[in-house]
Amino acid sequence: MTEAGGAEHSRVLDLEPPRPGPGQVAVDVAYAGLNFVDVMARRGDAAYTGSWPHHPGKEVAGTVRALGEGVTHLAVGTPVVAATRAGGLAEVALADAALTVPVPAGVPLHVAATAPLGLATTLLLLTDAGRFAPGESVLVHSAGGGVGTAVARLLPHLGGGRLLGTVGRPEKTAAALRNGYHAVHARGTDPAELAARLRADNDGRGIDLVLDPLGTAALALDLDLLAPGGRVVLFGNAGGGAPDPLPPLPRLLGANATLTGFSHSSLLTHAPAKVADAIRRALDLLAAGRLDTPVTVLDGLAAVPAAHDLLAAGRGEGKYVVAPGQPS
Ligand SMILES: NC(=O)c1ccc[n+]([C@@H]2O[C@H](COP(=O)([O-])OP(=O)(O)OC[C@H]3O[C@@H](n4cnc5c(N)ncnc54)[C@H](OP(=O)(O)O)[C@@H]3O)[C@@H](O)[C@H]2O)c1
Repeated sequence: MTEAGGAEHSRVLDLEPPRPGPGQVAVDVAYAGLNFVDVMARRGDAAYTGSWPHHPGKEVAGTVRALGEGVTHLAVGTPVVAATRAGGLAEVALADAALTVPVPAGVPLHVAATAPLGLATTLLLLTDAGRFAPGESVLVHSAGGGVGTAVARLLPHLGGGRLLGTVGRPEKTAAALRNGYHAVHARGTDPAELAARLRADNDGRGIDLVLDPLGTAALALDLDLLAPGGRVVLFGNAGGGAPDPLPPLPRLLGANATLTGFSHSSLLTHAPAKVADAIRRALDLLAAGRLDTPVTVLDGLAAVPAAHDLLAAGRGEGKYVVAPGQPS
């Protein structure tokens, strides 16, 4: 990605394969996950692009190609997944050894590729940040996307609960319902009407946990719907504009609300073991055949800009990965 904008600034280039530095691993990438964070970087959203050119891609699956100095717990040729800080959308990617996890036998690499960012984030949102307890109600905004789909697949393994969602377009409701949501509504209707519908979907009760990647755009709705003691986890800013100030203290006190922030990128730096644990947990569920994660596979890196266009327009469906070595 050479400058802020859209697909017109994305190029597939032949570069020298990167070599791992101390504590790093080079991975021959079989599949790389696409994520909305790459679209935010492409748009040039503040705090998502440090400099240009930007090499996107934050999760990969493949085999260990080379080990950097001091890396002893992995071997060349081992199938692994890795949370890359950038540069995952490539044939060869670098990752910290601490964020590189062997793939258990029986887990296909195109599915494993969704673990380092997508599934790990979803597990951490529900458990660590969201403190989900079995039987609780959960509202997810952007229910039809990669994370939204993963919530529906993971929730039953955490004890199950009532799962409600919103999507940006009415045509996305059917897929989210098929994926396991109990009720899904398109946003854009009158907020009071949307709140009334969601409350009715939860039998008139407050919602225990809201997972919200919409910046502050839906925060008033979230707080209106929240059960006393409920939690709102803010984990994105999909619209990309400047977020509004957070609600005044009396609003939070009156709602008995917990407002939590979540950033996978920040955890990579400040608590990598937490992310690695979540990746292992996701892989274990996949290995046990307990997690059915639908994935759309793109052939070749040249197909990525058009898929990013879909995500940028809010038209993506579920989770996308790319096989970088395949011709488009
Ligand atoms: N904090 C973290 O560490 C972290 C980690 C992973 C993902 N996330 C966030 O979680 C969300 C889901 O990620 P994902 O990779 O699975 O992506 P995704 O859900 O497959 O795609 C992003 C979705 O954002 C919604 N959206 C809302 N406003 C939008 C706008 N103005 N322009 C474009 N899309 C808009 C769209 O769904 P609807 O229109 O249906 O809502 C779109 O499909 C993203 O917002 C992402 O940034 C955060």
